[in-house]
Amino acid sequence: MSSLSLLLLLLPFFLIQSSIASTTTTPSVQTLNTKPTIFNPKLPPRTLSSSKKFEGSSDLVQLRYHMGPVLSSTPINIYLIWYGRWALPQKLLIKDFLHSISTTDLRAAPSPSVAEWWRTVSLYTDQTGANVSRSVVVAGEHADLKYSHGKQLTRLSVQQVIANAVRSAPFPVDHKNGIYLILTSEDVAMQDFCRAVCGFHYFTFPSMVGYTLPYAWIGNSGKQCPEVCAYPFALPGYMAGGGPGALSPPNKDVGVDGMISVIGHELAELSSNPLVNAWYAGEDPTAPTEIGDLCEGLYGTGGGGGYIGQVMRDREGRTFNVNGRKGRKFLVQWLWSPELKACAGPNAMD
Ligand SMILES: *[C@@H]1O[C@H](CO)[C@@H](O)[C@H](O)[C@H]1NC(C)=O
Repeated sequence: MSSLSLLLLLLPFFLIQSSIASTTTTPSVQTLNTKPTIFNPKLPPRTLSSSKKFEGSSDLVQLRYHMGPVLSSTPINIYLIWYGRWALPQKLLIKDFLHSISTTDLRAAPSPSVAEWWRTVSLYTDQTGANVSRSVVVAGEHADLKYSHGKQLTRLSVQQVIANAVRSAPFPVDHKNGIYLILTSEDVAMQDFCRAVCGFHYFTFPSMVGYTLPYAWIGNSGKQCPEVCAYPFALPGYMAGGGPGALSPPNKDVGVDGMISVIGHELAELSSNPLVNAWYAGEDPTAPTEIGDLCEGLYGTGGGGGYIGQVMRDREGRTFNVNGRKGRKFLVQWLWSPELKACAGPNAMD
């Protein structure tokens, strides 16, 4: 709660700062903390054309429960569909992130960890009092190497990609615990990609897939629009000149490191709002504002109103805010906490 009131207190200041920042092209990196590994890059969050950003101010937020299910079955089985050409290291990086969600062993992933980050999601319950599961596994993978539906996908053709995948044994239809993640390689275009979305989640229609299955799509923006969807690892042209430059990605892959935060955003929303009738803010169910949307662009304490907040930097200059398995580091956005009624993450400073 104290971080929230601090945020609200500082909001006018941030707003002034960000309006100044928008007229200058040289945002400066400033180290606010005595700990050498914490720093506070003065970078405004990426802006999409959507008006979904509330930036942590609880006055505007009326997150409500609409009586539908959450993903409470244990474990949550993730089925991955690798659409297009994926390099093995990229697949391993994404799978290490997903496997880290359930890793609670401090030796495997020291605090602040991905599992601690997921704790915020597990605070959401359904009307029976069942929480979102804390256990998440990769239950199956399917490679759509031949771009079965071409290199330009739409929100509907993505469902056909899933239909294809679940027809190919041994990739199952798991309508009890399953969620489906379609990950497209950097040469695949998606309806509204870059312009309005970096990822989305929904559920399949029985008429197209045979079942109602929660799914999410996330694209590798590395070639198409890293400054939008892999921000802050790439900066838009108007900010790049003379400034401190983009932050260094934790795993040296701008596109995939940027995707990790979008995957986290979609997974959190998929779990707390799988059929788009559980947890969201706003009156319009066709444009729900969900627990990831509320905190988009926020990665640490002091973020909001134009700044990403305090994050960590390792000796090699790589930026991150959570630890995962096998010594991995990731930068993931914060999520709306129903407990704090504010955006929360395990790297909070208080
Ligand atoms: C379940 O959610 C409730 C309400 O947010 C929370 O108080 C409780 O700690 C959660 N339980 C678990 C096991 O996460």
